[in-house]
Amino acid sequence: MSNIKRVAVFTSGGDAPGMNAAVRAVVRTASYHDLHVYGIYGGYEGMINGNIKRLEKGDVGNIIHRGGTILKTARSMEFHTKEGRDRAYENLQDLQIDACVCIGGNGTYTGANIFSKENPIQMVGIPGTIDNDIYGTDATIGFDTSVNTAIEAVDRIRDTASSHNRLFFIEVMGRHAGFIALNTAIGSGAGNLFLPEEDESIEDFVLWLKKSSRRRKLFNLIIVAEGNTEGGATALAEKVKNEVPEFDTKVTVIGHLQRGGSPSSMDRVLASRLGYGAVNALLDGRDRVALGIINDEISYTSFEDAITKSKVPNQELIKMARILAM
Ligand code: F6P
Repeated sequence: MSNIKRVAVFTSGGDAPGMNAAVRAVVRTASYHDLHVYGIYGGYEGMINGNIKRLEKGDVGNIIHRGGTILKTARSMEFHTKEGRDRAYENLQDLQIDACVCIGGNGTYTGANIFSKENPIQMVGIPGTIDNDIYGTDATIGFDTSVNTAIEAVDRIRDTASSHNRLFFIEVMGRHAGFIALNTAIGSGAGNLFLPEEDESIEDFVLWLKKSSRRRKLFNLIIVAEGNTEGGATALAEKVKNEVPEFDTKVTVIGHLQRGGSPSSMDRVLASRLGYGAVNALLDGRDRVALGIINDEISYTSFEDAITKSKVPNQELIKMARILAM
């Protein structure tokens, strides 16, 4: 058990739909337990600059359906320095904050891990990133919404691609991971996919393309993860065009479109469960752990493991995506 009295919550790194639902759950659960809650605005930058405000239950009303993060977010370079972290600690001390819930990805956990080793601040994390690349949880907050958005975009591209018999390379986000690309490809019924976790050669792809056109498959949708080793959609399209100039080839980069928008029901429920769980974890005395949900149960992973271990896409799903695309 822990006797914490004042908890702060912040979002850090790339925003993700559902972060607001997590903030709401943290504030309301903490208030239920008579803890004082503070919002740190702008992630670690806000902690360093003292941009910290008291949050009451009512301050998080009417936000569960909103994308982005009401607490704002940033990727802070200053927090990488000891001076920056010392200033951040002074600001927390001034307000007698004894625990924090951080919402973000690997970079956020890395900062939280170092900071709570240096200072007596209890820290737990919630996985908030569209990339789904966090070890210790089946899904991260924002992933489901982002895949839904990408699929909706691909459905629209399908209409025009099939009307013109064009070959489309469609790039989705995910940084170094292929989770968004894999689920987008399966959910949109794409013809093929390029993931960072696989090495598909251009030669094999061109052979496949020629075969599929012989089967009178006249248009094709190819999903490309931005972190793909052969390059993103633009680079791939250029390479392929050189080999098969007869194809009418187009490129769409979905980009930040897939990071905004109202969170899906899955993300709202996931975020609510994790926000609620995070406050309970602090009250149970847990420290330097990231929460997740595995097989529908709340799980706890040390920051150390969450940062150093990697999660990889399910190989069977990759195989399935290719079989179903035939
Ligand atoms: O981590 C989330 C993410 O959207 C990645 O998919 C992408 O590579 C990156 O952030 C983009 O970051 P920024 O918005 O800072 O350009």
